[in-house]
Amino acid sequence: MRHLLSTSDLTYTQAIRILDTAAEMARISEGPVKKLPTLRGRTIVNLFFEDSTRTRISFEAAAKRLSADVINFSAKGSSASKGESLKDTAQTLQAMGADAVILRHSASGAAQRLANSHWTSGSVINAGDGTHEHPTQALLDAFTIRQHLRVGTGDLRGLTIAIVGDILHSRVARSDVHLLSLLGAQVILVAPPTLLPIGASTWPVQISYDFDSVLPLVDAVMMLRVQQERMSDFFFPTAREYSHYYGLNADRLKKMKPTAIIMHPGPMNRGLEITAECADSARSVILEQVTNGVSVRMAVLYLLLAGAPSEDGEITQ
Ligand code: CP
Repeated sequence: MRHLLSTSDLTYTQAIRILDTAAEMARISEGPVKKLPTLRGRTIVNLFFEDSTRTRISFEAAAKRLSADVINFSAKGSSASKGESLKDTAQTLQAMGADAVILRHSASGAAQRLANSHWTSGSVINAGDGTHEHPTQALLDAFTIRQHLRVGTGDLRGLTIAIVGDILHSRVARSDVHLLSLLGAQVILVAPPTLLPIGASTWPVQISYDFDSVLPLVDAVMMLRVQQERMSDFFFPTAREYSHYYGLNADRLKKMKPTAIIMHPGPMNRGLEITAECADSARSVILEQVTNGVSVRMAVLYLLLAGAPSEDGEITQ
């Protein structure tokens, strides 16, 4: 495995290997010496053509904890805002020597395009491409679910996870569906019909339009942001009606299993898909997802750059 473009590229063994490595990274991060010398002398480029808080900062933190040099690129304030293409930007950064490029882009398929090109010789990690995929978010989601509901090891067999809301525009949902089902979880998509992609019925999921009937069945509820910036049409009548049918609120919290957890990839629209009471409740693991993002991204960088993961997921130094 040279690149990480999609969770659908991962085998079961590779996925477990990444989660186990992330657990080891988390253990190291809790100790007195948080930094490893593993990627000393390697250069990692954060190439972000779309806004990000969590992903960009956690990749930077992950790379620095592995002692890599990090170059941060944001389209805003760069020559991309003057119209410079992905190709010219990537080649410019390659000329400065990049061992890995972490790419966020508004175009679905941008990371695949970069990985298939000669514009960079390094590994390409997809940090979110349009509405397509966000594989490291899915890995940190799986890690967080495993940490809470599986006491940190094994796969997700026997667990049921609801992914709720704007599935249509969500790259997180696509990556999560592949990965969580690969790890054995039952996934239920809950959304109004207008926010489900054509073809979702062929995915390895159940589909429901009735949030209240799903809540008592699930071990984790993953709320998705309503991506108003990607909506050119009206997908629901009003924000109030959306919250009424598909928002997580205090009444719905009471319908969840006592052990079930609340997740959200962030950023949240508080008051639309989730109330502040739920986001800040003791059942919420939203900030733990952010913390786990660093360990998972350390694991991905380590496995891609410090060792070569073979088909069976073993790495060789
Ligand atoms: N979850 C996520 O991708 O958040 P950012 O857009 O802040 O990176």
